[in-house]
Amino acid sequence: RSKMLADLLRAGPIVPVITLERVEDAVPLARALVAGGLRLLEITLRTAAAAESAAAIIREVPEAIVGIGTVLTPKDLERAEALGARYALSPGATPDLLEAASRGEMPFIPGIATASELMAALAHGFHTVKFFPAVAAGGIPALKALAGPFPQARFCPTGGIDEKNARDWLALSNVVAIGGSWVCQTSDIRAQAWSEITAKAQRALMSIKE
Ligand code: 3PG
Repeated sequence: RSKMLADLLRAGPIVPVITLERVEDAVPLARALVAGGLRLLEITLRTAAAAESAAAIIREVPEAIVGIGTVLTPKDLERAEALGARYALSPGATPDLLEAASRGEMPFIPGIATASELMAALAHGFHTVKFFPAVAAGGIPALKALAGPFPQARFCPTGGIDEKNARDWLALSNVVAIGGSWVCQTSDIRAQAWSEITAKAQRALMSIKE
């Protein structure tokens, strides 16, 4: 399972965190992101439209690699599997969720903000974790500090990441991917500003190369 995850993350390293309010926006949004070079997507389970939106993207946009985010309970994890998502992510690492995910087959990225949460994730075999909320929980210095006692841990920071700091996060040796909503903001999705979203995706990729 960790090899599957490593293979998936190689399609990153920028993961748009997507919140969809209308199912009809799902496919054009995913196409806009893929056109901008971002294939690894996180569809959050935060809206009534989320599950159907993810299903539509999985069905109609084969270039997209769809993960389900905001997985809070074992039931959410089951939903992610039933939808045919390739991976799942959580903002946290509760004992229930870690147990359920370690029994299942799907690659799973638990969220951590402290050493103890990271220790719980590692104890269940999850070596790649989301660092959330990345900027608010101490930012780059916090992640550098965690590298000391936990050299085996790999991180996908999300929360407060944007075009201005993406490159600095990715420069850390323990960061394998970064995520954020800055490339697909709710206002752009509501306005169906697909070419603007493609441009933001392209700019995001440029910002990590310069
Ligand atoms: C999330 O899961 O909400 C992500 O961390 C997005 O955070 P952002 O909106 O600050 O990019």
